Amino acid sequence: MDSRYLLFLSIVSIFSVATHAVSETESLLKFKKSLVIGKTNGLESWDDKKNPPCKWIGVLCHRASVWGLQLENLELSGSVDIDALMGLKSLRSISFMNNKLRGPFPEFKKLSALKSLYLSNNQFDVTIPKDAFDGMGWLKKLHLEHNKFSGEIPASIVRSPKLLDIRLDGNRFTGHIPEFTHKPLKLNLSNNALVGPIPKILSTMDQKLFEGNKGLCGKPLDTKCYSPYSISQEPMSNPKKKSSKFLYILAAVVAALAAILIILGVIIFLNRRRKKKQPLLSAEPGPTSLQMRSGFNESERGQGSYHSQNRAAKKMIHTTKLTFLRDDKENFELQDLLKASAEILGSGCFGGSYKTLLTNGSMMVVKRFKHMNNADIEEFQEHMKRLGRLNHENLLPIVAYYYKKEEKLFVCDFIEKGSLAAHLHGNISLGQPSLDWPTRLNIVKGVGRGLLYLHKNLPSLMAPHGHLKSSNVLLNEKFEPLLTDYGLIPIINEEKAQELMVAYKSPEYLEQSRVTKKTDVWGLGILILEILTGKFPESFPQVDKESEEDLASWVRSIFKGEWTEELFDQEMGKTSNCEAEIVKLLRVGLSCCEVDVEKRLDIREAVEKMEDLMKEREQGDEDFYSTYASEADGRSSRGVSCEGINLS
Ligand SMILES: *[C@@H]1O[C@H](CO)[C@@H](O)[C@H](O)[C@H]1NC(C)=O
Repeated sequence: MDSRYLLFLSIVSIFSVATHAVSETESLLKFKKSLVIGKTNGLESWDDKKNPPCKWIGVLCHRASVWGLQLENLELSGSVDIDALMGLKSLRSISFMNNKLRGPFPEFKKLSALKSLYLSNNQFDVTIPKDAFDGMGWLKKLHLEHNKFSGEIPASIVRSPKLLDIRLDGNRFTGHIPEFTHKPLKLNLSNNALVGPIPKILSTMDQKLFEGNKGLCGKPLDTKCYSPYSISQEPMSNPKKKSSKFLYILAAVVAALAAILIILGVIIFLNRRRKKKQPLLSAEPGPTSLQMRSGFNESERGQGSYHSQNRAAKKMIHTTKLTFLRDDKENFELQDLLKASAEILGSGCFGGSYKTLLTNGSMMVVKRFKHMNNADIEEFQEHMKRLGRLNHENLLPIVAYYYKKEEKLFVCDFIEKGSLAAHLHGNISLGQPSLDWPTRLNIVKGVGRGLLYLHKNLPSLMAPHGHLKSSNVLLNEKFEPLLTDYGLIPIINEEKAQELMVAYKSPEYLEQSRVTKKTDVWGLGILILEILTGKFPESFPQVDKESEEDLASWVRSIFKGEWTEELFDQEMGKTSNCEAEIVKLLRVGLSCCEVDVEKRLDIREAVEKMEDLMKEREQGDEDFYSTYASEADGRSSRGVSCEGINLS
């Protein structure tokens, strides 16, 4: 605000209190008209014949002009007439806490001198426009907690230079936390549906302020960010950020290499010790912690450099063997995996995974599993052989594994495009296009086929996949899906499995402690709903943790049998004329999520329904499909419409 204007304001307030008061009375009465007051006699005192406005309930004055409105616990609903409030030139503070206000977010930014705004405990259930707080240069306190606000946290909040006290807890905010330009003094983002990494500037704040957002990761929380949100996901994505990314990657490479060396070193070292009971080592007073961690003995002393550590670890690894499950792969050894660069891909539920480049040029992924059960080596090998025999275009094969009692490593091919979760929830923030509708349909169909294959070929398992979720669906260069982390239930520690695996989050397990042949179908259903709505299933229930709400019940609460704009992922791009198809797939998803297992589709039916949907597409528009299949990277362009598709 320019200083001449301020001067003008103060002159006005000194010399024209009388006229001011008149217009303020009018403004307040006009404002009252748009409100519906639920509480009897709530604003009875607002009557210019009985009292001057500064005596009215909830009107706070300073030098006879209104600087605050405190209308709390009045069961207010109706609309907030901002234009009327603009007549109150000295208004600095508004509180409408504990009322029943709802509807579109009022244009408070027109009141640009406002210093505090309290809207807590109302019933606002809208998305706040991105620019809702632009120009509010004086705003210090913003309390929006305990409403039902949805959508992303508006970016204009973080642009408000003076904002110190921000409460957004207990809403339904989704998406990433915007990058704050300054650290607020007070902040509360708990109990929303936020996802992704917590901005660095907030990383020293109390954990509690981020609680109840299942998708958040990074400091101060204990959950590390897994690959969909990790910075090393797509090193080429942004040329401007390339150099800093390069540093990150370099750091990650060094860290990963060191981590693998240390881990393997310790395992091997401890094992050797136990087996051979080498007198030299056991007679010693005990190695220092560094020696324990890095796994070498005194003979290595004196050098201590990275290279000597590297050599030492490699020497030991040399004696260990990977077991290969496939003949079509050139054999290599663990040390080959460690020779070149390694990059942390993320920390999954069961342990970290690392990407390494073999000397022959192929990229491999090493996955650590920390929470396996105590199956002995024969049982374990037997199960791995079964998994190794699986062969389907929608399954990511396990190339080799490494068995030690304490830890197992799986080796798989590296899949270029990363996980479906990254594409649905992560890439937008990196400025990359999301997946369009035909690609999404093709992905769910592939996932269905992969599942059906698992069900046919692992008939002895109740839930042959058991852990189907978008971060376990990888996309190859043609955006065809590849399932990973399947068939693990027999070898994972039962307690951990119940805590972590998707099958144990199904309604039948939660209600009746049972897993059935249709449990994977439920996982497929949730995946379908996720791909259509763009919502992260793990961020449900959204509001109170007691409620049993999951993504499926949320969809059911909104879906009224026809196309509903707000339900579907805006990132899907152009969907004109595809609505009927999309709604059909949504119905398939919901039938897969039937809580009553009897009514739920079985895997064959679900796949058939999706195949039918694909067939209709192909018949309806040959041209479209050929465009779709022949695009260089296998991905159809965004502009393709469903026009001409016959959806009888
Ligand atoms: C943050 O919000 C949660 C939930 O509304 C509440 O329980 C907690 O006390 C708040 N913490 C602070 C510091 O405001």
